[in-house]
Amino acid sequence: MLIRSRRLRTTAALRDLVAETDLLPRHLIQGHFIQPQEGSTEIASLPGISRNGIQATLRQVEADLKLGIRSVLLFGVPERADKSPDAASAYAERGLVPQAVQALKEAFGQDLVVMTDVCLCAYTDTGHCGINHGPEIANDESVAALARMAVVHARAGADVVAPSDMMDGRIRAMREALEAAGHPSTAILSYAIKHAGAFYGPFREAADSSPKFGDRRSYQMDLRNPRENLRDGLQDLDEGADALLVKPALPNLDLIWRLRERSLCPIAAYHVSSEYSAVKAAARLGWVDEAPLMREHLLAIRRAGADWIVTYAAREALQKHWI
Ligand code: PBG
Repeated sequence: MLIRSRRLRTTAALRDLVAETDLLPRHLIQGHFIQPQEGSTEIASLPGISRNGIQATLRQVEADLKLGIRSVLLFGVPERADKSPDAASAYAERGLVPQAVQALKEAFGQDLVVMTDVCLCAYTDTGHCGINHGPEIANDESVAALARMAVVHARAGADVVAPSDMMDGRIRAMREALEAAGHPSTAILSYAIKHAGAFYGPFREAADSSPKFGDRRSYQMDLRNPRENLRDGLQDLDEGADALLVKPALPNLDLIWRLRERSLCPIAAYHVSSEYSAVKAAARLGWVDEAPLMREHLLAIRRAGADWIVTYAAREALQKHWI
């Protein structure tokens, strides 16, 4: 036979030689949930992940750095009493996330890339990502609050702010607010394509951010509309985003790929809570083999064109040599 593709599959060394896709620690971003109380609270729906107080977060990040995880994405989980109609605790100067950012920067400086989620859903009393007037989520008022939140995070030392709210015009407003506040170097990782739907269930338990009425379909995108998604997502670059994120990851490998082909900026994908938890749950039942399945998830996302993957599996993947 002239052509035998199996020749280059003969040994592990040959297979590694011809491998086209890499999965390295630098590609992974570990998500962190920050709680006001010290210590740790396990999150039942995200096995292996806890909400941590600031000191516990510092210890965790220090251990993760030793594994090679140099980027973190922070989510604040404030007390119920700190949720309010105007989401004021989201942009409080000494809020939970700014304090965590400051502590991380003091401890690890330039060795760590600190990214923060910028969204109001954990801070509004309704659990919606924007400020509401009755059933209506008010776009421009929410954008103003989000821009303040981004500036507060930047002032605390965040390297990257990552808006996940999906209001219109938020990237431009944030970019302008950051420039005006003297933070021209803070990067914006925009959730460029983020679909409404059922993929975020475990996260909402983790972040205590389920909407109290209705759903998120008036601001998050419709997964049936790839053209509209791409148009909307690419617009974020014109508004001043530095990198674009697609979420959830596995149901959107086509969109990761198409964004990759249409833009020259870094592309990130968010391997979301239920993508992670589904593997964990099935593994507990003995129905799947956790390590190779998680690896195949992450490799497929990389192959689709994601430079960075936000994943709850980052730490375990490196600790247990899944990748
Ligand atoms: C905030 C936000 C959410 C996620 C990331 N940022 C929740 C949501 O949009 O409902 C979900 C991440 C995950 O499921 O892991 N808006």
